[in-house]
Order: sequence, then C-alpha cells, then structure tokens
Amino acid sequence: MCGIVGCVAEEPVAEILLEGLKRVEYRGYDSVGMATISGGKFGVRKGVGRVAEVEERLQMSRLPGDAGMAHSRWATHGGVTDQNAHPHASCRESVAVIHNGIIENYVPLKKALSSRGHRFRSETDTEVIAHIIEDEYKRLRDPVKATLAGTKKLKGQYAMAVMFQDRPDVMIGARKDAPLIVGVGDGKMFLASDVLAFIGHTDRTIFLDNLEVVELTKDRVRIFGPQGKEVRRKPTQVAWELSDVSKSDFAHYTLKEINEQPKTVLTASVQDPAKLEAFAKAIRKAKSLYITASGTSYHAGLLMKFRLNKEAKIRVDTVVAGELKEHAGFLGKGSVVVAFSQSGETADVMEAVKEAKKHGARVFSIVNAAGSTLARESDGVLLLNCGPEVGVAATKSFTAQVVVANLVVDAVLGKRRSNGFKELSEAVAETLKCDEQIRDLVYEYSSRPDFYFVARGYESPVAMEGALKLKELSYIHAEGMPASELKHGTLALIEKGTPVVVLNPSGSLHADTLSNAEELRARGADVIGVSDVKDEVYRHFVRVPKVQPKFAPIVESIPLQLLAYHMSVAKRNDPDYPRNLAKSVTVK
Ligand code: F6R
Repeated sequence: MCGIVGCVAEEPVAEILLEGLKRVEYRGYDSVGMATISGGKFGVRKGVGRVAEVEERLQMSRLPGDAGMAHSRWATHGGVTDQNAHPHASCRESVAVIHNGIIENYVPLKKALSSRGHRFRSETDTEVIAHIIEDEYKRLRDPVKATLAGTKKLKGQYAMAVMFQDRPDVMIGARKDAPLIVGVGDGKMFLASDVLAFIGHTDRTIFLDNLEVVELTKDRVRIFGPQGKEVRRKPTQVAWELSDVSKSDFAHYTLKEINEQPKTVLTASVQDPAKLEAFAKAIRKAKSLYITASGTSYHAGLLMKFRLNKEAKIRVDTVVAGELKEHAGFLGKGSVVVAFSQSGETADVMEAVKEAKKHGARVFSIVNAAGSTLARESDGVLLLNCGPEVGVAATKSFTAQVVVANLVVDAVLGKRRSNGFKELSEAVAETLKCDEQIRDLVYEYSSRPDFYFVARGYESPVAMEGALKLKELSYIHAEGMPASELKHGTLALIEKGTPVVVLNPSGSLHADTLSNAEELRARGADVIGVSDVKDEVYRHFVRVPKVQPKFAPIVESIPLQLLAYHMSVAKRNDPDYPRNLAKSVTVK
C-alpha cells in the first residue's frame, strides 16, 4: 500500500524521486504526488492516476530542489481525489508530510486543531500530522524534537517523511507499525517504505525500529529513540540488485517472476542448517503450534500443516492471520507461531504476531524481505531468497515458501539433508513449456464467468491457490476446494461447459480424485486435468512431470499461474497491478 520515497542530496532530486515512485508502484495506489523545497518554498504537485499519467499531466520531475519526497496513495480516509493525494502541507505551509498508515484519533485531533484556527484542505487523516508538527515546530524550533513531540499525539500506525520549509537541508522520518527504511548513499540519503525505491543508488540500508525518528541530510543520518536519545546503528547491505527489479525481455513482471522459478526453487533451498534446526526444534517442542499467514502465504502454510500433521504427527492449525486473535485461548508460554509472509509487512500478520507475543508465544517466520518488520520481530527467520517480487500476485514467493516449508518439515522429521532440488528445478523448467497449451485454454474459456479448482489431500491448498490467482488477475469468479466437498453443494453450480481444473498427481488419492472428475464430467463440466498421468476423463490434459510428492504443489502451481496470467492479458487487464489490490497490505 502507500509508498514513500524521500531524498536529500547534493543535486536536484525530482528525477530520482520519480524513479523511486515507479519502483514502489507495485505496492498498489490510486494517486501520487511530490514535494520539493526550492528558494525557501515548497513546490507540490499531486493528483489521481498512475505515476506516468500524473507525470505527464503535472511534470513532477521538473520540480526544482535538492530535497524532496514523493508518495503513492492507496486511499483509506477520504476519497480518491487530487486534494487528498499526498504530500499535505500545514496551513502556513511551513511543514509538509507524506504518510503510510492510519491515524486512528484524527477526528478529535482535527477538531482540536480547527478550534485553534488550523484550516484543513483535505479529508485525510494524514493532514492532521502536518498541522500538529507545525505547532510543535513553532514551539520547539527543532525538526527532530517537533516530530517526536507531534508523533506522541498520534494513535494508530504510521511511516512518514516530514519536511520543513525553512530547513531545506533536512528531512525527518518516523515510524510506528509501518515500514520505513533509510538508504545511505554517497552525497544522497533516502527514506523509503521499500528498498526497491532506492536500490539503483545504494545497497546500504538502515531499518528503523518502531517509534524511532531519523534525521537525514545529504551526508549524514542520525537516529533518535522515542525519548530523543541518539541511537547508533550501522547500515547493512541488501542482497537485491537493480537488475532484479527490471522486466528484462518479459512483457510483465508477473510473467518474468513465473519464469524465474527454476532458479528460485534452488535459491530458496539454500538455508543455514543451524537456523533450520532451531526452527525445527521449536516446532517439535511447542506446547501448542499455529501457522499463520494471509492470502497466498496462507496456502503455503496449509501445505506445511498437512505434512506436519501427516508425516511428523504434530498437531498444528493454520489460521488466516486476521483471525488468529480469535484462537488466542490456545496461545501461551511454550506456544509457537510460524508466520509466512512474502513482504514481512502485512498488517494482519503483524497483528497476529503481536497477539501471539502478548500471550508469551515465540514466533518463527518464513519471509522474503530481509529486514522487514516481521523478520525483525521474530525469534527465528528463514528467508525465501527468491529476490524481489514486483508483480502484485505472489508467484515465485509461493513456490519458494513451499520449498522452505518442506525443508523445515524435513528437519522436524530428523532428516539431515533434503535433496532433489536440482530435479525439482528441472521439473519446473519442463512444466513452463505448457505455456502454449495454457494460451489455448485461455482462448477457449476466457468468456466463462466461473472456474473451479479441485484436488484432494496435500493438493487441496494448491486448488485454492489456483482459484485465488485466477480471481485476482483475471477478475473471473473462481473457487478452489477439496474435491470431496463438491457433492456437498458446489456441484449444483456445474453446467455444460463449466471449466473445472482437477489437480490429480499419481498416488493414493488418484483414483478417488478421478471419480470426482467423472462426477463433474457427468454433469457437463469441461474437466482440465493437471497430472503426471493422463486419463480419458479429462477434456484437456496438462502434463506435469512426476516429482517427489512433497514437491508436487510446486510443479502444479506453474500451469495455474500461467492460466491466471494469460487470462489477465486476454481480458486486457494489467497482470502486474490488478485492480483494488496492493502488494504489501499494511492496513488491517
Ligand atoms: C495473492 C497475494 C496476496 C498475498 C497476501 C499476503 O497473489 O499476493 O494474497 O499473499 O496479501 O502477503 P504477504 O505474503 O506479503 O504477507
């Protein structure tokens, strides 16, 4: 959701900010804006639309000044209007602010500020921040102190960048429960919600802790704790590179990321044995065990649960992160919560983790973004090592999660080594060759209003994932469920020609799944089989290579991801930025 990019440099920053804005586009947004300071005045340009559209209309990159900030807004409080886009300035235009998060007490704050003569220009919760800090700055005459004092009055979540009209050399950042990262460059310093915003300029980063405030000048970074005491922290180097965030020769990031999976299943499999063992030991010893995550990551969590239950005989529940609170009765000292998250910033996941910790549980996480809030707040972390995922729909991060989850389960089972990753990588590469066949399916079924995905056992979460992917990219209604559930209601929706994808690898559940496929065919469904064994019940058959059963969800996901991607393109959607969705869901 909302993206923040700020820069203080020894050169004009507007072009740098525009480039940063483009790199955080994937987070999801509806409007953008930029503010710089030049000649003792703020220049602000902002409006509704994509970065390229607003740039064409308003020429944000022409704003003069060596310090500035830019923002992509995903509306929460106040409609999608030019006026509500960030930055927001205080009434005297002495302070400007951009913000990611929600100020929960903005209504009483706005009332109090209005009664003191402050005039508001937007309907946002964010604008109160500018007015509050303006008052504090008048009193304290110090940007850090004014921001610290101002933020103490706020309830809710925030990551913000603040600029002061009479201090063009300085930018202040502050955060609580929303990500804010400092980029330490040569002669330019950055503030951003995501390292991707500045990765082309520097790979040296400082992750701010909750309630810290940072002061940037072009050649210095100072961090202050909530009481104003300076904190010393060295930058760390991030492994991601600029080339990781280019589309290469692919039409979309999503397609590039789908095609990266022969490599990323290998990179995900390289984990520190000591960390894996610590993770496994915590699971083995847990008095109660939960897995929690949202969306696609939740599906990876369901797969992990399946193997822990069935093979390790460990009782575990996988609960969507937004609901974990409702299970708190089973959380206590000795409990372990395993959290899956690509971004490591999902608000629901962070809430779940907070709740778990409140009850004394330990948290172990499987995360893509090193240094993310989840990674830093966990007792143990395994990274996905699959590089940045820019497409809003999770693809390579899902298969990397399944790889890491399998490594953890193998460690729980006492297996010293997991192998077969080279063969898995080859199988994924082989499966990607189904692209042409998937396009044909898209051609045949793109006008169908509904799709169904069914499977049994370990493959059931993959059916749910296939449906989620298709919904979010193509906007076609889709449902994924265990095949055994069909006859308990959903079968009533099957008509002549309804496409139903049946995931059915060879193995003990193969015959039962085939029976379900027969039932579907008998009711007129067009059954699309995804399996390593062909059967005449399938009207269409997508062959996937036979792999170890624990890896089958990985190869089965590939045709489903391609189906969603090509359907999105066929429907003239933008597969990288599906409507209404954000990559990093940082609000509850
Ligand atoms: C679906 C998708 C979302 C995310 C969910 C959790 O393709 O991307 O469902 O999986 O928002 O995000 P993370 O994994 O970042 O916590």
